[in-house]
Amino acid sequence: MKAIILSGGKGTRLRPLTYTGAKQLVPVANKPILWYGIEDLVAAGIIDIGIIISPETGPEVQAKTGNGEQFGANISYILQEEPAGLAHAVKVAQPFLKDSPFIMYLGDNLVQSDLSIFLNEFKSQQLDALTLLCSVPNPTAFGVAKVDEKGRVLQLVEKPKKPPSNLALVGVYLFNRTVHEAIANIQPSARGELEITDAIQYLIDQQRKVEARQIQGWWLDTGKKDDLLEANRVILDTCLTASTYGDVDNQSQVIGRVQIGQNTRVINSTIRGPVVIGENCHIENCFIGPYSSIADGATLINADLEHSVLLQGATVTGVHQRIVDSLIGQRAHIKAAPRRPKALRFMIGDDSQIELT
Ligand code: G1P
Repeated sequence: MKAIILSGGKGTRLRPLTYTGAKQLVPVANKPILWYGIEDLVAAGIIDIGIIISPETGPEVQAKTGNGEQFGANISYILQEEPAGLAHAVKVAQPFLKDSPFIMYLGDNLVQSDLSIFLNEFKSQQLDALTLLCSVPNPTAFGVAKVDEKGRVLQLVEKPKKPPSNLALVGVYLFNRTVHEAIANIQPSARGELEITDAIQYLIDQQRKVEARQIQGWWLDTGKKDDLLEANRVILDTCLTASTYGDVDNQSQVIGRVQIGQNTRVINSTIRGPVVIGENCHIENCFIGPYSSIADGATLINADLEHSVLLQGATVTGVHQRIVDSLIGQRAHIKAAPRRPKALRFMIGDDSQIELT
């Protein structure tokens, strides 16, 4: 069994963060989203992994993730020249996959489920394709499945206006080699992409064994800011263990599950977990509230923050109001005057959002 993880695409919904980097490398609880997928696959015993990359962000993904040694995997990189759809990515990966059955994992999805359960079912029932489903309140935003009571897939539709159910296709799929024949027989969709849903529909039409299972745990598609904050909240809630490598002074209070990285200094501050703070950060006279992730090299002085994500090297100083539900990009600076500011002065990148509430 092999795996491919899709880590191309333009990440338009996460702009401006994705102007300078891959959406799959945006951190959730200080770890790139992509790495959660790699870890899930390795935990299920799949170590032969191909990561599909784009010309724009591929070098960064490759530099950061490496050859897989740190995960106990063998990672190859496969270039997809253009974002021409999920099925197109499988086509590009065919020389890597050869005739092997494989899992396709979308690199911006986070799934709390033991993949080996689905792997065993796929193998023991000799399925041609197994899709995972999750009940969602907004099925029009996803691929949607209609299934019978035995879990057989009757119909799949991509982003339907009138969804046949509320069961969305999770970005994890299991296939055997018959999918390559299906992909060779489909045409680009209205949005000009070779859709994996169309390839699966082809398998269904050819009476192949296509089944679906509903996942029990959570599933997060990290495409937008609020999804990303939600992913951050869920991961901190479920996966974070407390540890302190940095230096916390006597005037500070650390409450609940809090992780503090090496060379980080916490001075006269209160940190209420779950919170993760990376390495080489400076936190002084601050309140850091639950569900916050602060990446390496960030500085917070005289600030009050909760349910927010700060990326590498971000700086917040002297902000009197509490910062909530925020996503602050790499090396971004937020600085306020010592007294309540009379004027606001900005230099903000394209597609940024500021809400003064
Ligand atoms: C893709 C698939 C869709 C699936 C979703 C899961 O959509 O086409 O069927 O439900 O991933 O994340 P996209 O993220 O490309 O809009």
